Amino acid sequence: MAEKKAYSQAAHTGKYDKASGLLGKYDNVRRFWEDQVTEIFLRPALSELVRRKRERLERIRILDLGCGSGDGYDLMMDVTTKDPGIYEYITAAVTPDVLKEYIGFDVNEELLKQAEESYGYYPKVRFMHGDMSDGLPRSMKEHESFDIYFTSYGTLSHFHDHQNVKIISDICRHASDRALFVGDWLGRYSYEWQDLWHHPSDQEYFMDYRISYIYPEEVRDQVEVGVFPLRIITRDEIMQIINEAARESGAEIKVLDFFDRSILIGRHMDTGDYNKNCPKVRTPVNSLFEGYVRTDLDSILVDYVPRPGFGHLNNFFEMFFMSCNALVKYTISLLSEYDSEAGTLRAVPDVLPFYPDPLKEAMHTMQRVIEGVGWLRWGDVRANVIEPHLGYSLRKLEMDLQPGTGVGHGLVGIFEIRK
Ligand SMILES: C[S@@+](CC[C@H](N)C(=O)[O-])C[C@H]1O[C@@H](n2cnc3c(N)ncnc32)[C@H](O)[C@@H]1O
Repeated sequence: MAEKKAYSQAAHTGKYDKASGLLGKYDNVRRFWEDQVTEIFLRPALSELVRRKRERLERIRILDLGCGSGDGYDLMMDVTTKDPGIYEYITAAVTPDVLKEYIGFDVNEELLKQAEESYGYYPKVRFMHGDMSDGLPRSMKEHESFDIYFTSYGTLSHFHDHQNVKIISDICRHASDRALFVGDWLGRYSYEWQDLWHHPSDQEYFMDYRISYIYPEEVRDQVEVGVFPLRIITRDEIMQIINEAARESGAEIKVLDFFDRSILIGRHMDTGDYNKNCPKVRTPVNSLFEGYVRTDLDSILVDYVPRPGFGHLNNFFEMFFMSCNALVKYTISLLSEYDSEAGTLRAVPDVLPFYPDPLKEAMHTMQRVIEGVGWLRWGDVRANVIEPHLGYSLRKLEMDLQPGTGVGHGLVGIFEIRK
């Protein structure tokens, strides 16, 4: 009886659910691609901030605006100071001793409860209710200034541009000199929503965002999918907001970087909700990162369909998807040429001189990985080593080729406030 009760109790916690990175909010692409890319782009600014604070014997205070279930805490604490070598153990930029306080606020009580359950036990972490529709909430302004004002995964797309001007100018007034501000929006011209590209580019545009992707494909048309408006935006439009916020607050806002996140693997690639020509790429890329699961590599190839009248976008996507395809095809050729008995490649396909440099580098790396590990006999070397590495190589290719203008699912700006 006690045994039955214990099993039922365990099942109710949800922690007895089968763990898989193939689907859901925390799928493999979210963990091994999107979180990691964000962390890599944050690395230079965060490392420099920590270095400066350490010199002054000061610690770091972080404000997570629209923190949702609190995952920004992990994101911040997982940023590394550099590409770690294979020997070092601790490589975090913000080590626990250098964090003074992390405060997350959100308007949604249920998400705050979830945040509290997941992260509330850390003594320096606090979650609070706060609404930023009219700027930084008063309750947040009462705190001493923060070193990092941080948003993640499209939070600023919930607001009109004039609301974002108010949020950012309030941050500038509240922050001390050289604080960081990270603004995260949805990109305006992702291939996932090519059907929406025609809306006038000189007007604010909100898409009806469907969170259909959280349901397996088979049940999507039987459930009532949540829909809400989200602003999709370009870098130029963000710069108008930033310039206006700088003018209103009197602070200088220095651009440190912009990056497009998830061009190849945005969540709506697989739903086709806003572009029926999108191939379902996220599913096989999730599979690349999953241990002991082999992936049909042909299913990662994208047959880009251009949209007439959008020459510069078509040119970018043509180059981008052709480069990804070339890397996948190159990997398929290398696998087919690998002689498992001899432990060598019978032939190496050409890396052509006119390929973009990041593609050449990714191809050479895939060759070295396959040559280096293809001979391993135990464990499934293709599923467990080679395929994840193809995932990381595609990720690197996306990072190197993205222009930071609004062509991915996410568009993130990293800024420094100068006063
Ligand atoms: C796309 S989610 C991102 C959540 C979280 N930052 C993450 O990375 O998972 C956007 C978040 O903004 C919050 N939000 C929307 N409107 C808000 C408002 N007016 N004030 C505060 N938070 C708001 C939502 O409740 C939601 O948690």
